[in-house]
Amino acid sequence: MTKTYAVIGDPIDHSFSPALHNAAFLFLGLDCTYIAYRIPKGELEYGVEALKKINIAGFNVTIPHKVDMMKFLDDVDNECKVVGATNTVVNENDCLKGYNTDVDGFLDPIKKRNIDSKGSDVLLIGAGGAARAIIAGFGKEKARRITIANRTRERAEELVKFAQDIGLESDYLDLQSAGEVVNRYRFIVNATSVGLKGIGCPISTRNIGKESIVYDIVYLPVETPLIDQSKNQGATIIYGWEMLLAQAMKSFEIWTGKPAPYQAMKLTLLGRF
Ligand code: ATR
Repeated sequence: MTKTYAVIGDPIDHSFSPALHNAAFLFLGLDCTYIAYRIPKGELEYGVEALKKINIAGFNVTIPHKVDMMKFLDDVDNECKVVGATNTVVNENDCLKGYNTDVDGFLDPIKKRNIDSKGSDVLLIGAGGAARAIIAGFGKEKARRITIANRTRERAEELVKFAQDIGLESDYLDLQSAGEVVNRYRFIVNATSVGLKGIGCPISTRNIGKESIVYDIVYLPVETPLIDQSKNQGATIIYGWEMLLAQAMKSFEIWTGKPAPYQAMKLTLLGRF
């Protein structure tokens, strides 16, 4: 019988996930299909019931439900526990298990480049939903220090505490100061939405150099102003689409138990930009 998967969130109509997963199912000849299901904030409980009714095999969870979804899970993996959020759920006979593939999905492009982040200093710009998974990732890799730069100080301070709790040194910087001392960090990661649609750069790139690794999780456009300027300064670049692809591949592998078809999924994703 055909297995059905979904992504839930709001807004959801521009999600790349249906195209990515359907391409992978088709490529491997699997009798599976993947749909986008808009569930507005506040309607998650009802939405999850509806998914169970159609015997959903698994689903991805995106904004605004990644944290709230935790309440409806019967079991969670270690990443979910650490981050406090889920992005991938497996349904077995109405028993829901949550995973968080954002953590390893974030790390994957770093590892693909054979970069070891152990002992590194990281400048993380942003303190929203994506930032926690990134901190958890650097914690897992035993980075040394993570400085959190954010427009709103209070949100950053919460994450400083989180980073310290998982064994990293951590402190706060405002965005202006971050631009001035950026050369002290090996990794510079943008986890704000600044750069979306090609508008804006979260910090000054003047002091970014050849030794810097600049990772922007914004993937639309592929070349954000931060990436574009950092490239001109000679930095190593990691693109947002690489994380998007890696977390999707990890969800696919959890659901199907098969290696995700990298080329087919990559071509599908890049073809959509
Ligand atoms: P998500 O859950 O997708 O990460 P979010 O929680 O709204 O979205 O977080 C967005 C991040 O981008 C935050 O760090 C936000 O900064 P604030 O905490 O100060 O709101 C940051 N951000 C969004 N627009 C920004 C802007 N124009 N300038 C600087 N930071 C911005």
